Amino acid sequence: MKKVKKAVIPAAGLGVRFLPATKAQPKEMLPIVDKPAIQYIVEEIIESGINEILIITGKSKRSIVDHFDKSLELEVRLEEKGNAELLEMVQELGKLADIYYTRQKEPLGLGHAVYCARQFVRDEPFAVLLGDDIVQSDRPCLRQLMDLYDQVQSTVIAVMEVPQEEVSKYGILDAVQEQPGIYRISDLVEKPSQDNAPSRLAIMGRYIIEPGIFPVLAGAEPGAGGEIQLTDALKVLCREQAMYGLAFQGKRYDVGNKLGYLQATVEFALARPDLSGAFREYLRTLCAKINEPV
Ligand code: UTP
Repeated sequence: MKKVKKAVIPAAGLGVRFLPATKAQPKEMLPIVDKPAIQYIVEEIIESGINEILIITGKSKRSIVDHFDKSLELEVRLEEKGNAELLEMVQELGKLADIYYTRQKEPLGLGHAVYCARQFVRDEPFAVLLGDDIVQSDRPCLRQLMDLYDQVQSTVIAVMEVPQEEVSKYGILDAVQEQPGIYRISDLVEKPSQDNAPSRLAIMGRYIIEPGIFPVLAGAEPGAGGEIQLTDALKVLCREQAMYGLAFQGKRYDVGNKLGYLQATVEFALARPDLSGAFREYLRTLCAKINEPV
């Protein structure tokens, strides 16, 4: 039986929707409370049982590499100050998993970023987690996909039903439900218009993909937005192999857009025992103020 042992995080995009914050720093490093977005993703991968991770980086993305590296100077300072708790946290960060890096020289699109992982992946099924999509769930979202992969031994994509007026923001499935929450995919369309969308089942930032995607990506042409789209390559693969969508359990935040980022920040802060009391009180006062008659 084939097992998923490697994960890829494409994090080389320009982050245009979050300018000017992303002019010189990666959007994947924007903190949600006190942890950069990409750390939540790395932790989800590790909790799912995968220990080999490739991060696709690009221009202005050095801080991602530094974040997961050992920081001797910081460790010495924390030791001198006797701050054992912070010292342990920083040391743990440096040895979270085996993290490898490769550069996407130009941000030509998500499909191209995934193609940059071919040497790392070779001929195994692999997971892809987008660097700006965070999922909060009891069982890690990636683990849920891996459980389905173990059964079907074929490409599995995380999906969520979105309102009709939002279909043009996503890759959308043409699919039939085989079991509750499990869809057999017959086609995929990147960012269709409302009239042309085959369903409201949208692709979220988690995939398990068969290595057969690489020959398809090798010959891929730019699609929607002039970018080499992963959805277009999956569309071709879907004609050759079985492909499934999984409506996962959990809440997904697109932290690459401003509203999604704010929602994640508020909800993650409310879930933090060390912050929730004071923060809840602050929000209560704020809500009362907002609701006051003007
Ligand atoms: P997005 O489309 O959300 O990222 O891609 P973007 O292009 O940075 O976003 P905007 O529209 O400019 O704000 C999803 C993920 O794929 C990565 C991004 O870093 C993000 O984590 N990506 C995208 C790449 O690695 N390379 C690319 O060429 C495009």
